[in-house]
Amino acid sequence: MTAAPRKRVLILPGDGIGPEILAQTRRVVDWFVARRALPADLYEEPFGIPAYRAHGSFLRDETWDEIEAADAILFGAIGSPEYDTIPGAAEGAGLMRMRTELGLFINLRPVRAAAPLHAVSPLKAEVLRQTDLVIVRELTGGIYTGKPRGIETVDGVRRGVNTMIYSEPEIERITRAAFDLARTRRKRVCSVDKSNVLEVSRLWREVVQRLRDTAYSDVELTHLFVDNAAMQLVRAPAQFDVLLTENLFGDILSDIGAAAAGSIGMLPSASMTGMDADGPARHRALYEPIHGSAPDIAGKGIANPCGAILSFAMCLRHSFLRPDDAALLEAATIATIENGARTADIARPGQPTLSTAEMGSAILRELDAMADGWPAAARA
Ligand code: IPM
Ligand code: MG
Repeated sequence: MTAAPRKRVLILPGDGIGPEILAQTRRVVDWFVARRALPADLYEEPFGIPAYRAHGSFLRDETWDEIEAADAILFGAIGSPEYDTIPGAAEGAGLMRMRTELGLFINLRPVRAAAPLHAVSPLKAEVLRQTDLVIVRELTGGIYTGKPRGIETVDGVRRGVNTMIYSEPEIERITRAAFDLARTRRKRVCSVDKSNVLEVSRLWREVVQRLRDTAYSDVELTHLFVDNAAMQLVRAPAQFDVLLTENLFGDILSDIGAAAAGSIGMLPSASMTGMDADGPARHRALYEPIHGSAPDIAGKGIANPCGAILSFAMCLRHSFLRPDDAALLEAATIATIENGARTADIARPGQPTLSTAEMGSAILRELDAMADGWPAAARA
C-alpha cells in the first residue's frame, strides 16, 4: 500500500481570540501527526491585525501564496475595533477574498446539542434532545457578492444598493452538495428560501425541487420560508437533518442554531470547493470556528478552543478523509466536557472553569486515554 500523499495545512490565527484558540488546535494537530501518523505539513502565517502590525499589510502577497498552495486552512477569526482606526481597512475583506477567490462555495455548519451542555443552553433540554443538524450554506454568491453594489447619490439622495443574485448552476452545485451529504446522514433536506417575496428564491426552490425529482428521489425534501425556519430552529431544532440555504440566510440561521449547542464557542465549520466521499480529496478547504474574534475577551486566555478543535475534526474528515480520526477527536472533546472540564462560556454558575490552554491539555489527555482502543486510521 502506498502512503497517502502529504497535505499542506496552513494555520491563519487572525484577530482577537484566534491566536489563543489556534495555539491549542495546533497542539491537537501535532498529536495526530505524532500518534496517528497524519500526513500533514504545517505552515503558519499572520493574518489581519497581527499581520498589519508586523508587516504593514493585513494580507501580504507571501501569505496569499501560502493560502493558494494549502490543501487545508485552519482559520481562527477576523474582526477587531482596531480596523476602524486604520484608514481604508475593511474588516471582513481577507476572509471574503479567500471564500470567493478560492471558490469555497460549500459551507457546512453542523449543530449538535451535546447532552452535557443542555444545561447551559437557553433552550430547554426536552427541545434539544436529538438535535443533530447541518446547515449547508452557499458561501460565494447571493447578496454578499452580487452587483451592482455600493453607496450612491441619486437626485441628491444617498442610498445603499446590494443585489441578491443566483444563477441556476450556482443553485444546482450547492444543492448537490446538500443532497450528497444527506445521503450520508438521515436523508432529509429542508431548503430555506423566501419565495413568497423574492424571485431569486422562486428560482432557488424550482431548481432544488427539480434536482431532487430527477437525481435524488431517495432523499426527502421539504421547503420552508426563512422566517419560519428561524422560529423552527428554536422551537424544535431536532426536526432538521440537513438545512440547505443561500448565503445571507445561512449566516443568520447558523447563529440561531448556535443557541442549541449551548455556546457559540462550541461550533465548527468547513468551507470547501467540493466534497469527495471516496478517493483522495482533491479539494481545497478552510476550517474555522463560527464564533468570531470576541475582542472583549481577547488576550485573557479564557476563550473556548472547542469550536476550533472541532473544526480540525472536520478537516480530518473532509480533507484527510479520515473519518475514524475525526470521530476520535469529536469523542475526546465531548468526553472532556462530560468529565466536567469547562471554559467560562459553557460553565454553569459556580462551576470551576479552565483556561483556554487547560482545556487544550484536557482534550489531549482524553485523546491519549482513548487512542489505544481506537481503530487504526484508515488510509485514503
Ligand atoms: C460568518 C461571519 C462572516 C459572514 C463575516 C465575518 C463576514 O459572520 O462566517 O458567519 O457574514 O459570513
Ligand atoms: Mg455569521
